[in-house]
Amino acid sequence: MTEAIPHLESYDESTLDRSFAILADEVAAETAALSDPEAFRLAWLGRKQGRLKLISDAWLKSAPPEARKPLGIRFNQLKQQIEAALDSAVPAAAGKPVQQGIDITLPGTVRAPGIPHPLLKTMQEIVSVFHHLGYSTSTGPQVETDFYNFEALNFPPNHPARDTQDTLVIAGQQTRPARERLLMRTHTSPVQIRTMIAQPPPLRIVIPGKVHRNDAADATHSPIFHQVEGLCVDTNITFSDLKGTLDHAMKALFGTSVKTRFFPSFFPFTEPSADVQISCIFCNGKGCRKCKHSGWIELLGCGMVDPAVFAAVDAQRAEPAYDPARISGFAFGMGVERIAMMQHGISDIGQFYSGDMRFLEQFA
Ligand code: DAH
Repeated sequence: MTEAIPHLESYDESTLDRSFAILADEVAAETAALSDPEAFRLAWLGRKQGRLKLISDAWLKSAPPEARKPLGIRFNQLKQQIEAALDSAVPAAAGKPVQQGIDITLPGTVRAPGIPHPLLKTMQEIVSVFHHLGYSTSTGPQVETDFYNFEALNFPPNHPARDTQDTLVIAGQQTRPARERLLMRTHTSPVQIRTMIAQPPPLRIVIPGKVHRNDAADATHSPIFHQVEGLCVDTNITFSDLKGTLDHAMKALFGTSVKTRFFPSFFPFTEPSADVQISCIFCNGKGCRKCKHSGWIELLGCGMVDPAVFAAVDAQRAEPAYDPARISGFAFGMGVERIAMMQHGISDIGQFYSGDMRFLEQFA
């Protein structure tokens, strides 16, 4: 700068504009190359020799009354420009590299990347065990019809077996035919039916998903929970295949020392049906509180696909493909929450849904 401030020739607006524009350009140029904010501050705002003080002395004090307002407005704009430049400048503290007012030595904003929910993790683990055996994944809707959820799975209307799955039904369906009425699926088994109607055998599928029941929440129950279903249909599929497959899956999930045993049970869509128990993973089968001193823990349901299910499927297919004289299959279904609780020693199912980060972060 050759002189501290330009000489003001007159107080008309265009002269004021021109004179202040010169000053604004200087502020802008100095801001762009600002290496010493304190020197910049002193040069413009210094109380004795700062240029604003000089402008105030030379221009404002001798201004005619009608010029005070236009002069004052421009003066304030210039002052704001200088202050804004100082605000965005970070003082050049000892030795810190400053780039355009940003201190690049400060730690960045840390964003937690997020982790899979423990239930999803367990669900994925189960699915992956079966993917390694050549199964693929099928999914279906959570809002299901009575036909897929019950009727085709050999639960006839009003059959007492329906009482085992206290069902949440969608309101306002009374005028529809019974099999078309909508409900929240109570298990993932309806996806067996959907897949078999869509595809002929051979079939090896796992079905992970959310299911709903009208159950009161307690430490081991939730009205919304998750299951993984499995279905294998081909020629010559036997109960031995079912046992071998599930024994392998339980060892893959809980460790190779785990034993399995099969107990007779009942499900309408399998015949024979079985409950699978594994040797207690907490006491290695010796007997403890967790296994009620039996050494065994019941974990899932399974069985050979009932011929009535194949018949219901073929009745819906353009070309029948599920003749029980030629093909057979097995199915199984397990609760994801129950398995995740066993894996991690969790005693309250509600923890999965509470959204408490202190709980969830343990699974990162
Ligand atoms: N759908 C049954 C339930 O939710 C579980 C189940 C049992 C599935 C046996 C199966 C099976 O595929 O064969 O209680």
